[in-house]
Amino acid sequence: MGEIVVVANQKGGVGKTTTSINLAYALACLNQEVLLVDFDPQGNAGSGLGVTVADGEKSSYHFLINVAPFEQVVRQTSNELLDVIPACKNLAGAETELVNIRGREAMLKKVLDPLRSMYKYIIIDCPPSLGLLTLNAMMAADSVITPVQCEYYAMEGLAHFISTVAKIKQFLHPQLKMDGGVLTMFDSRMNLSKQVFEEVSRFFGNQVYKTPIPRNIRLAEAPSFGQSIFDYDPACRGANAYIQLAIEFLARRGAKAEDYRNFQMTGGTAVNYDFGG
Ligand SMILES: Nc1ncnc2c1ncn2[C@@H]1O[C@H](COP(=O)(O)OP(=O)(O)OP(=O)(O)O)[C@@H](O)[C@H]1O
Ligand SMILES: [Mg+2]
Repeated sequence: MGEIVVVANQKGGVGKTTTSINLAYALACLNQEVLLVDFDPQGNAGSGLGVTVADGEKSSYHFLINVAPFEQVVRQTSNELLDVIPACKNLAGAETELVNIRGREAMLKKVLDPLRSMYKYIIIDCPPSLGLLTLNAMMAADSVITPVQCEYYAMEGLAHFISTVAKIKQFLHPQLKMDGGVLTMFDSRMNLSKQVFEEVSRFFGNQVYKTPIPRNIRLAEAPSFGQSIFDYDPACRGANAYIQLAIEFLARRGAKAEDYRNFQMTGGTAVNYDFGG
């Protein structure tokens, strides 16, 4: 049965979408069947993979409120093991539209649970808030990954975020696991990045991912071409970091190297990533 992983942090611009897209894509490159669910009305996770929602087309919003079945909202990407459900602006209205509905916080769970048999991992990209959309994503999920940007104010809001997850766990969803923090926009030349890494490590304990994602201009450029980093520049440092992150993600889940060594690039460029061992 597939695992549902939510990528969340209420702070804006910390690398949630970049991590959702490229972790999902890296896992697909490592032979895992993956579904990426764009659950942010900004729609960046879909558009970052070249998938847009035209007028009349259905999105994660229509899937959530049960007016479109999975077949109508799922889209293919450039990697045959990665599918995506794109988002559209209507999703912003869901926060208020659903307020009076019973079970409003468990609507996404209801529609995603049946998909577990089709995918190894379902990854949800969240908006920068702790509203009803993020709550739905957390209720649907088994585990939470939290991107933390390496900057002076990194810790601000993190305590609030963690205590919110703890409350959801305590009162609504006891099985929810904190998978851990991922350091993003890490600059190894800056002491600040190292300090943030240490501070975040203290905060998350051994749950912090050992692979930091470097600040890498190619990662910032790729979405404007509607491409993951593995299509745009598979040899860059950012691509390598997301592969390492995906390997760490799989290792935490007990995967063996022979399950993912059979690495295939869809873009055609042969790249020698370090697979360890
Ligand atoms: N490792 C990186 N190196 C350089 N730029 C990055 C990196 N990660 C993300 N960015 C850029 O930083 C900006 C914010 O990233 P992203 O959209 O992933 O954050 P987010 O948390 O999803 O934002 P939001 O809260 O608005 O949804 C984007 O312009 C993105 O291209
Ligand atoms: Mg985002």
